[in-house]
Amino acid sequence: MPRKSTFHGGLPVNILGIAGSPRAGGNTEVLLAELLAGAAEVGAETEAVHLRTCAIHPCTGCERCRKDLTCTRFYDSMHLLYPKIEAADGLIAGSPTYNYNITPEMKAFIDRLYPYYRFSDERPGPWSTYFAGQGKQALVFSVAEQDDPEERGFAIEAMQRPLEALGFEVTETVHEGGYFPKGAVVRDPALRKRAREAGRRFARRLR
Ligand SMILES: Cc1cc2nc3c(=O)[nH]c(=O)nc-3n(C[C@H](O)[C@H](O)[C@H](O)COP(=O)(O)O)c2cc1C
Repeated sequence: MPRKSTFHGGLPVNILGIAGSPRAGGNTEVLLAELLAGAAEVGAETEAVHLRTCAIHPCTGCERCRKDLTCTRFYDSMHLLYPKIEAADGLIAGSPTYNYNITPEMKAFIDRLYPYYRFSDERPGPWSTYFAGQGKQALVFSVAEQDDPEERGFAIEAMQRPLEALGFEVTETVHEGGYFPKGAVVRDPALRKRAREAGRRFARRLR
């Protein structure tokens, strides 16, 4: 039996994977599965969430969360995800590149992390976040059709910057181009191997 890596209290590290593609079994989901498989190989406990199976209402900016410290505007799938995000040592977030950007599913998920901000009464003013100082880490990845970085756009930045603002240290980013049809990633064992290695590296950094 492989030796489990341990984290504080002898518990295995806990990694939550979030896939933002609306396409079932698409390239993002295959890559997420490989990343999490790599992490599991070195003893992490992993879970994959496919946002296409969730009902997540876009944030409306009602600002009730400033007082309530959670979303009391919508009682949707985010309330199943909030405890998982809080319990995770590491977050892996992946979206296909859509029009240089992330998908609406991933954008809604990120916007609904707004209750974790801790704003002062002054607006604009100083702010912090619930996750600040917790040592949480993230890996963000995107799959795109195009090889040219210009045409792949800013999907990575669209996930990395908000997660960093929320207090996650983004330790690795992966933007893979050259994959258009569903299943293109399945047919590329070299990419899948690289993803597994990235998953192992990510989990080891969390120890
Ligand atoms: C609406 C839409 C917009 C897209 N925009 C881009 C783009 O701006 N740049 C790019 O390289 N690929 C783009 N693509 C291609 C996808 O990123 C590519 O097919 C990816 O592998 C899909 O991942 P999935 O199978 O996980 O859904 C787009 C695809 C769709 C459907």
